[in-house]
Amino acid sequence: MPRTILVTSALPYANGPLHFGHIIEAVQTDIWVRFQKLRGNSCLYVCAEDTHGTPIMIRAQQDGITPEQLIAASASAHARDYAGFLIGFDHFHSTHSAENRSYTDALYTVLRDKGVITRRSVRQSYDEQAGMFLPDRYVRGTCPRCNTPDQYGDSCESCGATYSPADLKDALSTVTGTTPVLRDSDHLFFKLGDFETMLRDWLTRSGLQESVKAKLGEWFESGLKDWDISRDAPYFGFEIPDAPGKYFYVWFDAPIGYIGAFAALAAKRGLDFDSYWRSETQTELHHFIGKDISYFHTLFWPAVLFGAGMRRPTGVHVHGFLTVDGQKMSKSRGTFITAQRYLELLPPEPLRYYFAAKLTGGVEDIDLNLEDFTARVNSDIVGKLVNIASRCAPFIERAGGHLADSLPEHALFLEFTAVRERIAQLYENRDTAAAIREVMQLADRANQYVDHQKPWQVAKDPARMEEARAIATQGINLFRVLLMYLAPVLPKITQAAASWLGATAFASWDDVEAPLLGTAIGKYPQLASRVDPAVVKQLVASPATIAAAPAVAAQAATGKPAAAAPAAPVKTQEPGMIGMEDFAKLDLRAAKVIEAARVEGSDKLLQLKLDLGDHQRQVFSGISASYAPEQLVGRFVVVIANLAPRKMRFGVSEGMVLCASAPGSGVFLLSADTGVQPGMKIS
Ligand code: 2FM
Ligand code: ZN
Repeated sequence: MPRTILVTSALPYANGPLHFGHIIEAVQTDIWVRFQKLRGNSCLYVCAEDTHGTPIMIRAQQDGITPEQLIAASASAHARDYAGFLIGFDHFHSTHSAENRSYTDALYTVLRDKGVITRRSVRQSYDEQAGMFLPDRYVRGTCPRCNTPDQYGDSCESCGATYSPADLKDALSTVTGTTPVLRDSDHLFFKLGDFETMLRDWLTRSGLQESVKAKLGEWFESGLKDWDISRDAPYFGFEIPDAPGKYFYVWFDAPIGYIGAFAALAAKRGLDFDSYWRSETQTELHHFIGKDISYFHTLFWPAVLFGAGMRRPTGVHVHGFLTVDGQKMSKSRGTFITAQRYLELLPPEPLRYYFAAKLTGGVEDIDLNLEDFTARVNSDIVGKLVNIASRCAPFIERAGGHLADSLPEHALFLEFTAVRERIAQLYENRDTAAAIREVMQLADRANQYVDHQKPWQVAKDPARMEEARAIATQGINLFRVLLMYLAPVLPKITQAAASWLGATAFASWDDVEAPLLGTAIGKYPQLASRVDPAVVKQLVASPATIAAAPAVAAQAATGKPAAAAPAAPVKTQEPGMIGMEDFAKLDLRAAKVIEAARVEGSDKLLQLKLDLGDHQRQVFSGISASYAPEQLVGRFVVVIANLAPRKMRFGVSEGMVLCASAPGSGVFLLSADTGVQPGMKIS
């Protein structure tokens, strides 16, 4: 019996570009969805822009646009990038939509009428100048436990303490730089604890990963607390129907966005809403998410759904974080790779393949090692898989373009088709790494077959053309089975191969059982080409090198080297001037001084510890005559972030702090305007 499945991946926030963290999840989901479709199941994939909340409101204000304009710009950039990675959504919607508003209101009303919403007063930081309550992350100050300055209002990055913004010393609003006050306001809470028994039961029956279950167990142990689902105006979101001036917290309406997106699709396609959202037996509901948001998806979300009389998810599939060359992605190290950047340089399928080869269905972090990436995709896709087809194709063309009528080694073909259930099971469990291992072992077998049969030698004898054609037919059929197994991962290569072998050659998983025999096939297309390690390196190149990359981008888009080098710019540069490309080589960043100390043995230098947003570093600066260390802690400086580290007598200096000076004047650090954050780029 074919299954009826609805699938989602996490909704991307509408205030930033898609990066590799988003792409690995979208690729994992898309592979699973394509697999289900090939197996003959009905499978729909929806997603949406996640549009509400304070960061989006503030970002739009900073950019001088409306939140709606920000969302629209983000939606079109996201759509372009998802399409670039061949993510086949059935529908992509927005949480700022009529459908989402109506389901958010409806679910809330049912929950309220059931008595699982409660109201109580909350004391919170308030920015009087901005006239708004401040989320914890918008308050910064000195850690009450270890005295590290400039910590977020909820936790200290230095000692790990968690607290509330009111506990911070010298707290400041990051919105206006003023000191927040405490103010009371009524909030609405969802009584999560009322659902503990239901959740415990759901967790034993749902196919959650063991480590996700274990995490849930810990949360049960520490007690399920009421969840604050409201925020005060000004807030970009949906106003709560019976609480004027209060808005639904973004995390309340975001998952309901899954329903809103489905509803929009259902309207287009005439689908039955209730069988998807009110029945747990007629259809399946699967969410793909990262481990950072499992609390929302394995506790709040099933409880909200259940409380509102809706179905709960069949599966919540959690993946780990993506690291690049073993480290957390980082803007300053250049390893924060955006989808757009990748697509300017390389085609999507190598990365889809690499991610698939790494994803096991577990929650461990996944490392993208750039050298391994190049070696792996070139060896597997080009050297093994496509190699089978490209070596066999000429002998069919020479024989008039028809495949032979029978396979010379049917038993070998059967070995290939016999594993299709096992591979299907691996896809079902999202262990694409194991599926790909199996396929590549078979690809080795297929290549050995061609190596031993040597059709190129056989074909030298005109009397043995038929034999060469039979060998090639065997090779092509082995290739077809393998590409069928990889079709969910490599949709474009599969499409190109279908234009060669026939439109229905990859139509459905079980079709591989019947070999392609006697049919006319088309002209062999180039199915894939090697990725160039020099281009791969540019994924993490400094911005200066990135600016010089258009020729490579042209190559990626057309598959051919760019015809000519770009024309030299008209020369207007005087001696001593630098061009934009030279300026672009400097990575200037705003940094905050976290520690400052005199350096023993030097009367010029101060040793500074700087916060650059996503990392800290040490810089020695010759400003001791002008500044006392205690004056500096907490203030912003401008740092050249990509200066090669210098080993000094006292230690390594990782960058340089900029100062203004004139002969005899001493040195002056530059100051930062309100709103500047550590790590911001200065241009
Ligand atoms: O963490 C995030 O990026 C959120 N925008 C994910 C939301 S998923 C869903 F629940 F809406
Ligand atoms: Zn601390």
